[in-house]
Amino acid sequence: MRLIVDTEAQSLEIEDGGERRRVPLYSREGFEAISRLWLKVGWNQKYVYTFSWMGRPSIQLPEDMIRIQEVIYRVKPDVILECGVAHGGGVIFYASLCKAMGRGRVLGVDIEIRPHNRAAIEAHELFPFITLFEGSSTDPEVVARVKEAIQPGERVLVVLDSNHTKAHVLAELEAYADLVAPGSYIVATDGSMEDLWDVPRGDPSWKDDNPAAAAREFAAAHPEFVLEQPEWPFNESELRENITHWPSAYLRRVDEA
Ligand SMILES: C[S@@+](CC[C@H](N)C(=O)[O-])C[C@H]1O[C@@H](n2cnc3c(N)ncnc32)[C@H](O)[C@@H]1O
Repeated sequence: MRLIVDTEAQSLEIEDGGERRRVPLYSREGFEAISRLWLKVGWNQKYVYTFSWMGRPSIQLPEDMIRIQEVIYRVKPDVILECGVAHGGGVIFYASLCKAMGRGRVLGVDIEIRPHNRAAIEAHELFPFITLFEGSSTDPEVVARVKEAIQPGERVLVVLDSNHTKAHVLAELEAYADLVAPGSYIVATDGSMEDLWDVPRGDPSWKDDNPAAAAREFAAAHPEFVLEQPEWPFNESELRENITHWPSAYLRRVDEA
């Protein structure tokens, strides 16, 4: 792909797959094309490894955190389950929303919770909102322990941010989707791997082996879920697309299976 920016002519030339078109630079199309490239360059520069939430590193694009906050505030879950805890920025972020909303708690699963991360999460003022589980998110014993911690009828929202292979994400979707009630979501994060395979830190296998492919396959086999970008609650622009590392991520439960 080639992008040729001409700030004087205020135009952007996009050459992609043998096709070439010119769009106004200051347009929705211009912004989206530049943003898609910005995401790739930023990911390669480890931009998402530069943020924290209330003291804990959060390996996310802030855009994705704002967007999931919009969803969480609308759904108002009783339980937010995050697979993939790492330094704890995600579980602390979700716990801070629960505290602010006066509703909900957080369950976090990670195959390895390193002692210094566990100590920092347990010492955090939001730890009373959090329960940690150590083990693989697809291990049937771990799945059973997580499900035991959820009461029947509780509204659950699930965020999958652990091992990002298609097979693992599909297995997580199959393991946890039944927790999700109509109107809530299971979110398969980091589908941008399918766009990042050709950057220097990427891997060609990601072109097909990624969470977005898992989410699409899951949605095709489960009509009780639709794969769609959640509606923006506020938008006074012409823009419509999330600027995101989580494309094809949000699976909304539409009705009973
Ligand atoms: C990208 S990090 C998670 C970042 C975190 N959600 C945040 O917002 O900062 C991925 C985490 O997934 C964990 N992980 C990898 N394979 C896993 C598995 N099979 N089950 C559970 N966690 C796993 C890793 O140990 C790592 O801590």
